[in-house]
Amino acid sequence: MFAIARTFALIGVDAEPVHVEVDIGGGLPSFTIVGLPDAAVRESRERVRSAVRNSGFKYPDHRITVNLAPADIRKAGPGFDLAIAAALLAATGQLPKPVVDNYAMAGELALDGGIRPVPGALAMAERTRGWGLRGVAVAPGDASQAALVDGVEVMPVQHLTWLRDLGEGKVDPAPRTAPPPVPADDLPDLADLRGHPVLRRCLEIAAAGGHSLLLIGPPGGGKTLALQRLPSLLPPLGPNEVIEVTRIAGVCGENGGPRVRRPFRAPHHTISGRALVGGGAPPKPGEVTRAHRGVLFLDELGEFRRDALEALRVPFEEGAVTVTRTSGTVSLPCRFMLVAASNPCPCGNGPESGECECHPGAVTRYLAKLSGALADRIDITHRVDPPPAEELIDDGAEDSAAVRERVVRARRAQEERLGAGRTNAEMTPAELRRHCELDEESQGLLQRAHRQLGLSARGWDRCVRLARTIADLGGDAAIAPHHVTEAIARRRRPDS
Ligand SMILES: Nc1ncnc2c1ncn2[C@@H]1O[C@H](COP(=O)(O)OP(=O)(O)OP(=O)(O)O)[C@@H](O)[C@H]1O
Ligand SMILES: [Mg+2]
Ligand SMILES: [Zn+2]
Repeated sequence: MFAIARTFALIGVDAEPVHVEVDIGGGLPSFTIVGLPDAAVRESRERVRSAVRNSGFKYPDHRITVNLAPADIRKAGPGFDLAIAAALLAATGQLPKPVVDNYAMAGELALDGGIRPVPGALAMAERTRGWGLRGVAVAPGDASQAALVDGVEVMPVQHLTWLRDLGEGKVDPAPRTAPPPVPADDLPDLADLRGHPVLRRCLEIAAAGGHSLLLIGPPGGGKTLALQRLPSLLPPLGPNEVIEVTRIAGVCGENGGPRVRRPFRAPHHTISGRALVGGGAPPKPGEVTRAHRGVLFLDELGEFRRDALEALRVPFEEGAVTVTRTSGTVSLPCRFMLVAASNPCPCGNGPESGECECHPGAVTRYLAKLSGALADRIDITHRVDPPPAEELIDDGAEDSAAVRERVVRARRAQEERLGAGRTNAEMTPAELRRHCELDEESQGLLQRAHRQLGLSARGWDRCVRLARTIADLGGDAAIAPHHVTEAIARRRRPDS
């Protein structure tokens, strides 16, 4: 007796098709799973046995062999339970064949036969469509996420017995869901930040063009406060971006419906390079991928591990993490805005303050993290000093909604020029030439900055991108010298 069911293994942010073959033969009762299963997959046999019995099906007292094909993909987690049970029931004639032929299925089994959500429902629904199947059966908690995908039936099944109902056409597909509207403003608001006019300007420019931003200053000046308010300045995700972001959240185990907010990830400074950029076997997304289309916030940048910051460089520049595997490479998207805050030295006072208590070697190591190759990729650097007393009086400064309006307008100009979802910070060299023509005076300004500030070639291009954003915020079609002057000022490191 033999049957095949269809399910998926997660690799990076993709779902790879897996066939679950079940053979029931003569011999003493046993249950073997082969095909590179991890411990959780091997434990599946205990859950499947109990769930089958407790759902009123008959559990075969024979030798059961389960093969998960292809055998060279690592299978991790309990998500294979449902397909294994379905193949077993089909092999023993307790489930109509069309169920396992027409539907992929993914879910963890409870011992009573209930079905629990698993990571990656949206990615699985997308792959189901490509596989030419009619639909995918998932736990009800996974259905709203999977139903974002057009052209595939998403069948919510609450219990193993529902598979029988599925064969008899008694289960209704989950309704196709449109992303819900963006919730009302309950994000921390820029109105909380008092004083700091230049810092506000930096936040606005960064939000408008997707530029990276580094704030350096002594403790208590408002660096963390300011950067935590960045999400409230960003436009909501576009419809395709909702799918991308929800798909990534889903493979990382966040069940539930569509994500409409841009991600804001703020990993602790003890994070490893692997956890930051992702990897492993099977490859898993890291923080940079979870920040895709949103913000990665590195608070206390100087405290991060050096190797972790090194690992960040290439993904940040390329917008993708490439993980090499024996069977080829996997690419994980990571187009994010990098923002960071740091004290000028470990004690916080700064070596130039006269109050620094740090060992000179420690200061050097600390500064190396702020001025290394990563820093060259930072578009805007700003020194944040505690605001003077008169600025700390509540001055009725603009709130996030007012700033966001200008940001959205500037982003619209960029999308018209570069395409949906693109920002000035990501302009390729060709786009830079096409859209950022500089007059003679502007070129002269950049040349002088190059000489005086030691602007690198990369720094030069980043300055031009920044000038483009400043022009977009002003509604100007052409880059003018005053845009370039401000771009140079925003880019300049406080210590240079
Ligand atoms: N400009 C400001 N406007 C309003 N509140 C402020 C401002 N600056 C500091 N504060 C207050 O001080 C607290 C500490 O600020 P914040 O955590 O942002 O400092 P920081 O620059 O990140 O310091 P550290 O270097 O110690 O991390 C804030 O929670 C806030 O209550
Ligand atoms: Mg802080
Ligand atoms: Zn110090």
